[in-house]
Amino acid sequence: MKHLLSISDLNAMQAISILDTASELARISDGQVKKLPTLRGRTIVNLFAEDSTRTRISFEAAAKRLSADVINFSAKGSSLSKGESLKDTAQTLQAMGADAVVIRHSASGAAQRLADLEWMSGSVINAGDGTHEHPSQALLDAYTIRKHLGKGSRDLQGVRVAIVGDILHSRVARSNVLLLTLLGAQVVLVAPPTLLPVGVESWPVTISYDFDAVIAQVDVVMMLRVQQERMSDLFFPNSREYSRYFGLNSERMSKMSAQAIVMHPGPMIRGLEISADVADSARSVIVEQVSNGVNVRMAILYVLLAGGPLEMVTN
Ligand code: ASP
Ligand code: CP
Repeated sequence: MKHLLSISDLNAMQAISILDTASELARISDGQVKKLPTLRGRTIVNLFAEDSTRTRISFEAAAKRLSADVINFSAKGSSLSKGESLKDTAQTLQAMGADAVVIRHSASGAAQRLADLEWMSGSVINAGDGTHEHPSQALLDAYTIRKHLGKGSRDLQGVRVAIVGDILHSRVARSNVLLLTLLGAQVVLVAPPTLLPVGVESWPVTISYDFDAVIAQVDVVMMLRVQQERMSDLFFPNSREYSRYFGLNSERMSKMSAQAIVMHPGPMIRGLEISADVADSARSVIVEQVSNGVNVRMAILYVLLAGGPLEMVTN
């Protein structure tokens, strides 16, 4: 595997192997050795043409823990903001010898476009492209779910997940639907009809407009941010209405089953899709998602750039 552009690049065995590699790396980094020599001498470029906190920082931390050299590059402060094309930017990075480019971009398909350039010899990792996909987020979400609810199994057979909110603009939802169902989970999407994409009927999910009817039936409630920056129209009457029907507050959370967990990819808009007390509650694994993100991104870099058996990690 050279690139990670979409979850559809992976079969179940490959996805499970990334999760297993992340578990193994977590075990190692919980111990005495924090930094592994695996990617010494390799260069990883973080090309962020759209804002990010978690993804950018955790790819940087992951690359550094594997001893790679990291170049951070964001649109603001670069010649992208002078109108230079993505292609010319990529050519510049290639000329500097990048072994991998981690790209976030507001255009769906931007990562694929980079990978398709015939002179692009490094790996391309999609860190979120428009409303299309965010595969490393889905992998860290699956990893987090497996840790809490996997009952020792390597896949997610039988786990029931509700993904709630702005599905229409969410690359996290798209990647998660693909990955969670690939791993055997059952997914229900809960959203107002205006925030569901055209063609959603053909996705391998069930759909509900009634959060209260779904909440007691699932093991995972994954809340999504309302992505105002991608909305040119009015998709719901007002914030209060939205929170009332599709927000997660403590009253609604009290209907969840005993072991069920609350997730959110972040950034959260507290008070809109999730209340502050829910976000900070014992059921919330939102902060843990962020820490798991580092191990999962180490695993992605490891699998794409080092390959080979995992035993090599410690040598
Ligand atoms: N951080 C995630 C993304 O970039 C989710 C979000 O922004 O709401 O897709
Ligand atoms: N979850 C996520 O992608 O967060 P950032 O946008 O902060 O990277």
